[in-house]
Amino acid sequence: MLKMINSPQIKLAPSLLSADFGRLGEQVAEVVKAGSDWIHIDVMDGHFVPAITIGAPVVKALRPWTDLPFDVHLMVTEAETQIPQFAAAGADIITVHAEVCPHLHRAVESIKQLNIRAGVALNPGSPLALVDDILPFVDLVLLMTVDPGCGGQIFIPQMMAKISRLRHKLDEKGLRAELEVDGGITAPIAPKVVQAGARVLVAGAAIFDAEKSIKETVHHIKNSLENGPNRLLNHPEKFDEISPG
Ligand code: DX5
Ligand code: ZN
Repeated sequence: MLKMINSPQIKLAPSLLSADFGRLGEQVAEVVKAGSDWIHIDVMDGHFVPAITIGAPVVKALRPWTDLPFDVHLMVTEAETQIPQFAAAGADIITVHAEVCPHLHRAVESIKQLNIRAGVALNPGSPLALVDDILPFVDLVLLMTVDPGCGGQIFIPQMMAKISRLRHKLDEKGLRAELEVDGGITAPIAPKVVQAGARVLVAGAAIFDAEKSIKETVHHIKNSLENGPNRLLNHPEKFDEISPG
């Protein structure tokens, strides 16, 4: 059965990329306890990006640690061949990059046939037009707001307008795909990307910060969205009250 992952609320998806890999299970438990919504898992193959990170066996090992949705971001050149492994390991959402997926529709359909939500991702330099024709088929669009490859980079400010343009496209077509942003999301930036139209916020370095506890960092981001009890989480009509910039 598909988990409930579409809701009107803003979702926070900590990226494990900046977690302590020596105790990933405990780190998952900590972000869950702190009030996260999804767990974002960055899979890198050493080809699409230079680093190699997490494979399907690690996802499988993490599965018993939480019931929260596993949001698997495939930064790999051969995504289609990887889909069955990550599905079997316990992924709830699998996202492939449009830039390296020539048979995008086939890939998306193969994910959905496994009873998993399908997402499509775009690098900062890739035009939205690349995903125009797949939008009606996907459950999620992931906009990279830094170049993929590592955590802790600075949000690219020009991506704010791209988020707005995608929000507009989705709303105009009446599509309910989630709009996820990934890269450089911090507490000050979080309300601005939400105002631009994002509904799922990935955050790595801002959450796994050596100086503060995970509880503190998660609450810091959530509070930046709320500005009062659940203000933005539960009252999307109030987005306009946040000043842009
Ligand atoms: C980057 C990954 C991101 C990354 C985000 O290639 O896709 O998910 O971990 O990390 P921060 O929030 O540190 O930019
Ligand atoms: Zn990611």
